[in-house]
Amino acid sequence: MENELEKVVISRAVVPHDTEHFFAQAKQFEELMMVFNSAIKEVRTKFEILNDELTVTHNRSPIEVIKTRIKKPQSIVTKLQRKGYEVSISSVLYNLNDVAGVRIVCSFIDDIYAIAEMFAKQDDVKVIQIKDYIKNPKENGYRSYHMIVEIPVFFSNRKQPIRVEVQIRTIAMDFWASLEHQLRYKKDYEKTEEIEKELKECAEVIAQTDRRMQKIREKINTEL
Ligand code: GTP
Ligand code: MG
Repeated sequence: MENELEKVVISRAVVPHDTEHFFAQAKQFEELMMVFNSAIKEVRTKFEILNDELTVTHNRSPIEVIKTRIKKPQSIVTKLQRKGYEVSISSVLYNLNDVAGVRIVCSFIDDIYAIAEMFAKQDDVKVIQIKDYIKNPKENGYRSYHMIVEIPVFFSNRKQPIRVEVQIRTIAMDFWASLEHQLRYKKDYEKTEEIEKELKECAEVIAQTDRRMQKIREKINTEL
């Protein structure tokens, strides 16, 4: 009986109409990912140029590393469903801000604000939202400067504004966030109050170190 059912399902799947529909959907999704990938490239280049310029003019590179990621199809669907939005291509474009993600890891806290301002001032960058988790850390100790921006991406026949999530943080903040993220997704991780307290304390120690490094730099700069 099961085999019979399987045969029916398989034979239905290969009828031309379904195949065409499948390919049309797959193509649309591929195009959607291409659009977000292009936006990531645009944003990455903007930060690379800022870093290159400062390296030449001020002999220092405020950016340590740039990491990028595109949200996986499964996470896109899960987020749309969790927020009660329709699962469709236009819904992704309209409702999600974090399909394209760019993370900028800076050397010092001041670099974060300097770089963020230089980026936000560019006339093709439209800032949609800012969350300053450095001035206002999250309850668990998380720190980073988050921006949602919209930038135009130029294609053969159109200009499309695309939203990108930019996270700017120091090496120390990145270190904490990466480890905390790893721990959060550990299979049998129990979120006990003790562990949360411990993690938060680590975040405070790290933040203090960031501030001390910043002060050391200021001291060196004024003595130069
Ligand atoms: P999401 O719906 O999860 O995307 O959050 P949001 O829309 O409220 O945005 P928010 O700016 O708070 O967080 C966006 C992203 O920041 C997350 O997807 C993570 O990459 C990062 N982030 C936020 N909070 C934490 C945290 O507590 N720990 C770690 N490791 N990363 C965090
Ligand atoms: Mg997110």
